[in-house]
Amino acid sequence: MENAILGLDRQKVSSLNRGLNELLANFQIYYQNLRGLHWNIKGQSFFELHMKFEELYTDAQEKIDMIAERILTLQGTPLHTFEDYLAESSVTVGRNISNDRESVELVANSLERLIELERNLLTESAEADDEGTNAMMSDFISEQEKTVWMLKAWLA
Ligand SMILES: [Fe+2]
Repeated sequence: MENAILGLDRQKVSSLNRGLNELLANFQIYYQNLRGLHWNIKGQSFFELHMKFEELYTDAQEKIDMIAERILTLQGTPLHTFEDYLAESSVTVGRNISNDRESVELVANSLERLIELERNLLTESAEADDEGTNAMMSDFISEQEKTVWMLKAWLA
């Protein structure tokens, strides 16, 4: 294909890169929320949640790198400043949260927002024949849906 990126339509790829950058920005806020929760959590569930939040931010960190490197693979530029992340994100920023329920709710709500963005990218990447992004979104969605189920079971 003339003027293509990895055989994919250039315009569709640049739209996918915008979506991936929006996902990246939201992931960074989600990641930083988890660091704050890991540090500030108090109460009877301290040991359990302190560890769970560490597990989740470690996983988020890997996914952040995968998203950024997917953008580079698609010849885009991943956002990399806090300024851009804040401007491009819609996930709620958590501040001074030490309560266990409030913490778990923030994580579950943030994940639901990420899944929403990933579903849009799933549709758009299928439409663009971009199997790489499609498979990545599919993996993220199924893993995160399971995490949302567990967080909601904890809250119930
Ligand atoms: Fe720690």
